[in-house]
Amino acid sequence: MHDFQFKNNRLYCENTDLERIADAVGTPVFVYSQKTLLDHFRNLKTAFREINPLICYSMKANSNLTICRLLLEAGAGLDIVSGGELFRAGKIKAKADKIVYASVGKTEQEIEAGIKAKILFFNAESIPELELINKIAGRLGRRQKVAVRVNPDVEARTHRYITTAKSENKFGIDIKTTRAIFLGLGRNLKNIELCGIHIHIGSQIIYAQPFVRALKKTVALIEDLNAHGAAIRYLNIGGGLGIIYHREKPQTAGQYAKAVIPLIRNKNLKLILEPGRFVAGNAGVLLTQVLYVKDTPAKRFVIVDAAMNDLIRPSFYEAYHEVVSVRREARVQVKKCDIVGPVCESGDFLAKDRRLPAGIRQKDILAVMSAGAYGFSMSSNYNSRPRAAEVLVCGNRFYLIRKRETYDDLIRNETLIKK
Ligand code: LLP
Repeated sequence: MHDFQFKNNRLYCENTDLERIADAVGTPVFVYSQKTLLDHFRNLKTAFREINPLICYSMKANSNLTICRLLLEAGAGLDIVSGGELFRAGKIKAKADKIVYASVGKTEQEIEAGIKAKILFFNAESIPELELINKIAGRLGRRQKVAVRVNPDVEARTHRYITTAKSENKFGIDIKTTRAIFLGLGRNLKNIELCGIHIHIGSQIIYAQPFVRALKKTVALIEDLNAHGAAIRYLNIGGGLGIIYHREKPQTAGQYAKAVIPLIRNKNLKLILEPGRFVAGNAGVLLTQVLYVKDTPAKRFVIVDAAMNDLIRPSFYEAYHEVVSVRREARVQVKKCDIVGPVCESGDFLAKDRRLPAGIRQKDILAVMSAGAYGFSMSSNYNSRPRAAEVLVCGNRFYLIRKRETYDDLIRNETLIKK
């Protein structure tokens, strides 16, 4: 599943002792395993090889340039959601015809940049957006491919913040309106070519059934539209595959492929997948150092130098991330504790009620597991905390792929006005 394993009671990433990285780079630091990243990507690719899909890695999960380039080299395209991500894609010379662009709120500048870059298509999420793409494409003398993101109104059975395909969610366009677009309105938008349907029903989905339900609805819609003269050639089924954080038993890539492929086989559709977490989630950990062990009448707090600004998932979604000491001692006593950061919020915790060795002390290094997706990419400077460093491990070597921010970085864009 991943390449973070204990060897001689020390936690390694591939063949690199994680404590060595903490010593060399300092903490907090995100550490990624190249092998895990590529293995996960290839697992998915292999599972779907029968239909040779375009796998567009969802950059928002982890947009570090080195990470994205590794995946491009392995054959991935990119799923982007902003002009900033398009800029990153340009920096690593991503092939534009393997880039798809979703977002409910693309600005004029972003649409123009996407068209000029010649991306494969936009996943459009509203009628006014379709009209704007049509207008800008016309101004640029271009005909732009567009897929409509459909909101199929299905329950993804995941956290409500990461459920995206219920009718009350802001994402996508309902089926009825999508029909009207393909069979009516869209035909008048001469500068866009309506070529695909996109769905993305949510994230951290561990069962195949919600995907299947959404897909059945979508394929039926496509067949109906094509029978009425539409020319839908692409089916983008988004991301959302769940991973193991704790005791989940998510479907494997193979099981997912087995559920999906029969529904689209022989339909003359190019399948696009947009995995983020599945590729990067278990490929990274966050290393943090213990600052203080504070015993109170209520409980023990292990105060560490990483906080909600580094990894917001526990605070934001009450997400579970395993926390382990990078040194394992045999038969030690354990004590329950909360692992918390220095930020001035009671919601600033990385883990609650966890059993850590009772002898844990200042300067010990802990690893917060499964932090490769939506870790650094959701981090912030709250409390004027410089953002963490990022390191990539390849076997017994490691590379700094993003240096730690400095205090000067914090104020770089600020202007002290003269009074
Ligand atoms: N495609 C679209 C259109 C998306 O909106 C997303 C994620 C993905 C693909 C990739 O989904 P994945 O395969 O990673 O599940 N911050 C949350 C997750 C939010 C996901 C947003 N969209 C978290 O930390 O759990």
